Amino acid sequence: MKILSIETSCDETSAAVIEYVEGSFPKVLSLITATSLETHKKTGGIIPENAARAQVEYMLPVIIESLTKASEKKLTPGTALSTISSDIDAIAVTYGPGLIGSLLVGVETAKTLAYIYNKPLIPVHHLLAHLYANWLVADSVLHVESSTTHHTQRAISFPFIGLIVSGGHTDLLYFKSHEEYTWIGGTRDDAAGEAFDKIGRILQLPYPAGPEIEKKAKKATEKKLRFSRGLKHSEDFDFSFSGLKSEAARYIQKQDNVSDELQAEISYAVQDAITDVLVHKTLKAAEKYNCKTILLGGGVSANEYLRKCLNFEIRNSKFEINLFFPEKKYTTDNAAMIGTYAALHYTPTHWHLVSALPNLYFE
Ligand code: KG4
Ligand code: ZN
Repeated sequence: MKILSIETSCDETSAAVIEYVEGSFPKVLSLITATSLETHKKTGGIIPENAARAQVEYMLPVIIESLTKASEKKLTPGTALSTISSDIDAIAVTYGPGLIGSLLVGVETAKTLAYIYNKPLIPVHHLLAHLYANWLVADSVLHVESSTTHHTQRAISFPFIGLIVSGGHTDLLYFKSHEEYTWIGGTRDDAAGEAFDKIGRILQLPYPAGPEIEKKAKKATEKKLRFSRGLKHSEDFDFSFSGLKSEAARYIQKQDNVSDELQAEISYAVQDAITDVLVHKTLKAAEKYNCKTILLGGGVSANEYLRKCLNFEIRNSKFEINLFFPEKKYTTDNAAMIGTYAALHYTPTHWHLVSALPNLYFE
């Protein structure tokens, strides 16, 4: 089965063709992503209308390029869309959560293509798809028994704990099967990525600041500065990162001058505080729900320090846990994860019943 998949929840316009044969891992035949990030860098964050306008501009060219790349035939831009008729079995699209203007572009395009070419349409929950990026590549598996990363083929098994850490969300989920999952906790205020971005802005780092803070943190030498860990020891599986943001802001404002060295120390302390809570709560969830598998997904899961700390804590614990991270190129928003979710969770829905839901959350 070949699935044309579309992702437009925020500032990325992405299309992919995924090939899936039951019992094997989904294969990415093409993945094309355009981003309006440069526009948002100028405004220090995303202005939704600007993101939506870019979506309109990029949508069809991205789909055409994705179909062209995936096809074995020689296609011209004028003929690419018509290959949906013969080469594509279904269309998948992110229907939420996200920015309404951005989502509408993808959803309405997918609905139109599904209608015109008479193909099944599969609406996909963006946040769940972040976790399904782990099925895309079997070689991004991190062996917990060893201190180095091994490239092996290991199947993900249920039940598992999923930690979604993105720019807009921080959620912990307990999955019994592809169909059955429970939301067990999430952030009460800022998401982990949002905390990185907001603190980065105060430090005058470019947007998105997560990767910038990670780079700066690597240059820290003293590592003595410490910020508080909101809700680390609460009984539930909730998170809170807005206190960290305020604490870091107060600390930065008190300084006469933030030297490169101090910027590195602050970056390290911020990354360490966020990581500490994420690692602690994720392992606590794995223990409580008796899960031997943990999956991470979302933009923040690209963070090496988070990957290393979680791996380290697992090795030092009494639990045998298999830890999975998506390959880095699949951690941030992309259509390949949308197609993967659709392949493994095949729920064709009449186009008439699919709408963009910006505030979609978990049941
Ligand atoms: O999943 P994503 O692409 O978009 C959303 O669905 O929100 O995540 C984007 C977020 C941004 O907040 C960005 O700063 C953060 O992921 N991010 C990182 C890293 N790479 C991206 N945060 C920390 N370390 C990174 N290496
Ligand atoms: Zn995302």
